[in-house]
Amino acid sequence: MPHKTTRSSKNNHNKKQTLFFWTLPLCLLLSTAQVQAIKMGQAISTTQFFLCGRRHFTAPGHARRAKKCTAPVQNSPAARVGQEGADGADLTDKVVVIAGANGGLGKELAMRAAAKGATLCMICRSQERAKAARQDISKATQACPDKIQILQANVGELSQVRSAVKELQAKESKVDCLVCNAGASLNKRTETSEGHEVTFASHLLGGSHLLSQLSVPQLKTAEKG
Ligand SMILES: NC(=O)c1ccc[n+]([C@@H]2O[C@H](COP(=O)([O-])OP(=O)(O)OC[C@H]3O[C@@H](n4cnc5c(N)ncnc54)[C@H](OP(=O)(O)O)[C@@H]3O)[C@@H](O)[C@H]2O)c1
Repeated sequence: MPHKTTRSSKNNHNKKQTLFFWTLPLCLLLSTAQVQAIKMGQAISTTQFFLCGRRHFTAPGHARRAKKCTAPVQNSPAARVGQEGADGADLTDKVVVIAGANGGLGKELAMRAAAKGATLCMICRSQERAKAARQDISKATQACPDKIQILQANVGELSQVRSAVKELQAKESKVDCLVCNAGASLNKRTETSEGHEVTFASHLLGGSHLLSQLSVPQLKTAEKG
């Protein structure tokens, strides 16, 4: 009897070994295939993103869409009110606040607002870059530099958003347009001095939620006229 038990347990052990022997490479093969599939998926979506961007958002994309517009479309954001090629918009007496106005889309919008006669408030984290952008904007649009204010704030830092809005409220009684455009997307997890993740804090928590919440009274004042 003891002899039989030993033999059957030996058989079981052998079966387990065989199973393990075949399962391990199969799992490895599957995970390699999954990794390849994920990589291929990423490559496809990156290509789609690139092609979609080229088609709809670059200069040729803009030109293609402009042809379909019934309203006049400007060739440059710097076209002033009444200037040939301008689209007829007039923002005189309007207060436009743009976060992240020293580069990219924010700067283009700032250029347009200044060209249309708005009082412009640029919320930027670097005084140096903000001043350089203000100079470019004022030169291109011939807007009076006094109508372009700089509010220094890193919108990822909630305390800085609060100070910037306080400063703005002391200067302007209303805000007709608030553009929550600032934000940086980092590949590596980084935290602000207040312990929030930077991409989330700059785009959403500080740059959109807090900034817009604190600006509600001034936005309402503008709405009342
Ligand atoms: N372009 C795209 O394909 C795309 C796609 C999805 C989302 N977005 C978002 O759309 C917005 C505009 O895009 P973009 O292409 O014009 O971006 P961009 O060229 O990188 O410009 C972003 C602007 O925001 C400022 N900024 C960044 N972090 C800030 C912070 N913590 N506090 C204050 N200012 C800050 C930058 O100033 P500095 O010079 O100081 O960095 C810059 O002026 C960004 O929020 C971006 O993340 C863009």
